Amino acid sequence: MKILVIGSGGREHALAWRLSQSPRASRVFVAPGNAGTAVEEGVENVALASIPDLVAFARDEGITLTVVGPEAPLAEGVVDTFQGAGLKIFGPNQRAARLESSKDFAKAFMARHGIPTAAYATFGDAAAAHAHIEERGAPIVVKADGLAAGKGVVVASTAADAHAAIDMMLEQHRLGAAGARLVIEQFLEGEEASFIVLADGRNVLPLASSQDHKRLLDGDRGPNTGGMGAYSPAPVITPRVHAKVMREVILPTVAGMEKDGAPYVGFLYAGLMIDTAGSVTVLEFNCRLGDPETQPIMMRLKSDLLALIELALHGGLDQAEAQWDPRVALGVVLAAHGYPEAPRKGDAIGGLPAAGEDYRVFHAGTALDGATVRVNGGRVLTVTALGHNVKTAQRRAYEVADRIHFDGMQLRRDIGHRAIKAPGGGRVAQPRRA
Ligand code: AMP
Ligand code: GLY
Repeated sequence: MKILVIGSGGREHALAWRLSQSPRASRVFVAPGNAGTAVEEGVENVALASIPDLVAFARDEGITLTVVGPEAPLAEGVVDTFQGAGLKIFGPNQRAARLESSKDFAKAFMARHGIPTAAYATFGDAAAAHAHIEERGAPIVVKADGLAAGKGVVVASTAADAHAAIDMMLEQHRLGAAGARLVIEQFLEGEEASFIVLADGRNVLPLASSQDHKRLLDGDRGPNTGGMGAYSPAPVITPRVHAKVMREVILPTVAGMEKDGAPYVGFLYAGLMIDTAGSVTVLEFNCRLGDPETQPIMMRLKSDLLALIELALHGGLDQAEAQWDPRVALGVVLAAHGYPEAPRKGDAIGGLPAAGEDYRVFHAGTALDGATVRVNGGRVLTVTALGHNVKTAQRRAYEVADRIHFDGMQLRRDIGHRAIKAPGGGRVAQPRRA
């Protein structure tokens, strides 16, 4: 059968590669894809982006299943449009995708259903927002209500920073409509982890846990980015924490969405803060897989992804079980000169290795220029390797990353540092089932 993946990042390269391994996949198309998906065996790029063009392509090409990578088309209603045209597509519809596309919706939903999250208030008026900061003080977190491509969250360590964030969104309108309302919430401390599941509207199948590194520089310093590296599993998700996340967050979320008349079908990503006592709080929901978390997760997935997605589309996830490579997978992002502020495009990439048994280079912001692969976006590649513990996966990933070069290449040298410091040196217990 023919499959279509919508998107062009490292997440979509990893998804397309994994889907192409399915014995029932004849061809995987990626719209629009990148230089990596252009040359992946069994995978082909199609230069399309608008929803009407995607629908027409899916119909004309006889696509059996479409899988959506990023949040923007989900928030735009790509699932509703495909379903309206009688086409099978995996992802939440526009109503369900509000869990990500409106922070105010997500917070109100969590409050209504007793799902643990930071205390918050929502503002459309700058004076009231400023007064709230005067009352609460810092540290405090200011978030744009809408989708802002990773630029909508300001973790303010001083009241002055919080006031500036309010002005940036509500007075200078720098985030456009996404920043026309904002959520101000309590600052939380702890360790972050990404908990992603497949949901079928009622049942869920948890994927392997993972952890991202959001800051640009070593030691978790510098500006926030889309993610500079990730590994799976996350040692902070012990079997006890795993059970707690399922009980307190994932199952009530899926049940709450069903009860509210917006059953959630698709990948559901809970961004969590876990404190030293093992308490779990939701920082955000995403209505899609994470990037770069997907790259290590797909390296470890041994089950047929296509079969799991089909079960999810038929409400059959109570029957599903996923098999995981017991090894740790760790991905290091190679980013462009100037990322995240002003990534430079066009630099030629050299030294790209063919995949090996224990490593694979997923492309994101790359484009083919004849035989040359060039930088075409902020996050360029995710070098992902497997190892028997975090240290060996890390060593292998950096060995491979060090063969690759382009002018201005940025990478962190410490991906996995928290896991290596974790009890057991990154050798982790593997919860197999919820
Ligand atoms: P979000 O897009 O809501 O996940 O926010 C992006 C990043 O901001 C998160 O990954 C955290 O590192 C940080 N963050 C968000 N909310 C909070 C919070 N309430 N307390 C502390 N840090 C936060
Ligand atoms: N890596 C974080 C995200 O995909 O939102």
